[in-house]
Amino acid sequence: MYAGKARAYTNIALIKYWGKKNEQLILPMNNSLSLTLDAFYTETSVIFDESFIEDSFSLDGTLQDAKQTAKVSKFLDLVRQQYKFSLFAKVESQNFVPTAAGLASSASGLAALAGACSAALELPLDETELSRLARRGSGSACRSIFGGFAEWQKGDSDQSSFAQAIPADGWENELAMLFVLVDDGVKDISSRDGMKRTVETSSFYSGWLETIDADLATAKQAIAKKDFNKLGEVTEANGLRMHGTTLGAVPPFTYWSPESLNVMQLVRAARKQGLACYFTMDAGPNVKILVEKKNLTALKNFLADHLSEEKLITAYAGPGITLMPVER
Ligand code: PMV
Repeated sequence: MYAGKARAYTNIALIKYWGKKNEQLILPMNNSLSLTLDAFYTETSVIFDESFIEDSFSLDGTLQDAKQTAKVSKFLDLVRQQYKFSLFAKVESQNFVPTAAGLASSASGLAALAGACSAALELPLDETELSRLARRGSGSACRSIFGGFAEWQKGDSDQSSFAQAIPADGWENELAMLFVLVDDGVKDISSRDGMKRTVETSSFYSGWLETIDADLATAKQAIAKKDFNKLGEVTEANGLRMHGTTLGAVPPFTYWSPESLNVMQLVRAARKQGLACYFTMDAGPNVKILVEKKNLTALKNFLADHLSEEKLITAYAGPGITLMPVER
C-alpha cells in the first residue's frame, strides 16, 4: 500500500489565464499571476493498493459517479504513466469552503491531488515539478503550489510551463479578498469550454493577448513597490478585458449576471467615496474584491447597505501546498 495526503489552497488570478495553446498538455496562451487564499482549500488523500480493481473517488464523504471518477482517473493515469506504476487508487477529497456556495475550486482540488500522489509514491518532486504536475490536472492548479503571489510561466513545453512564487516581502499579508456570492441559477459554461470557444472564435481574443505583457509588468512592478492602487487598477482592467473576449465569441456568452454588474457598480461607488478597492471575476457570476486589510471593515460597512452579509466571504493570503500525515 502506498498512501499520501496533501492540503492545497485555492488561488484567484489577478492577471488571468485565458486560453490554451496545447489542450492536452495544458500549455496556456499567456502568463498569469495569482494570489493564493486561505479561505478555501482541499484536503485529498490517495491510497494505491494491489487489492483495488478500479479507481474510486469520494468527495466530502460521498462516493462519486463514473463521470466524476473518470476526471480523477485521467490524472492518475498520467501519474501512473509518468512514474511507471500500475496500481489503482482510492482518492478521498474534502473541500473546505465556508458555505455551500459553489466555490469549490479546481485549483485547490487538483493541486492537492498532485501533492497527495507525489507523497504516496514518494516522488522526489520539488515545487517546480509539483507545479508542472498539478498543471496537467487543471491549469490554474499549478499556481496553488505556492503561497502568496505566484506567476505561471506559460513556457512552450511540458517541461517549461510551471508557476513560481513572486516574493512580496510579506505585503500579501496586508491584503484581503472579499468574495461576493452571486447566484444567478444559470448553468455554468466551464472555464475549459469557455476559453476554448473564445480562443477558437472570438474576434477580441488577439486584443487580449496583446495587452498581457504590459499588464503583467505593471502588476509585478506594483507588487515590488507595494502599490495597492496600481495593482488593483491592473487587476480590474485585466479581468474586464478577459470577460470582454467572451462577448466576441461565436456564439457569444458572458459569465456576468445582473447581480455581478450591480456589485461591480458598488465597487466603483465605494472607490468614488475614497475607498480603494477593485474587482475581478472568473468563469462564473461571483465577484471578488481586492482590498487592503485596513480598509476591509469600511468596505463591508459600505456593502452592508446594499447586500446581505451572508453573501460575503473574507479571504486573506494563504500558504502553499502542505503534505500531511495519512490517517490509517
Ligand atoms: O484552471 P482552470 O481550467 O480552472 O481555468 C481558470 C480560468 C480562470 O479562473 C478564469 C482564470 C485563472 O487564471 O484562474
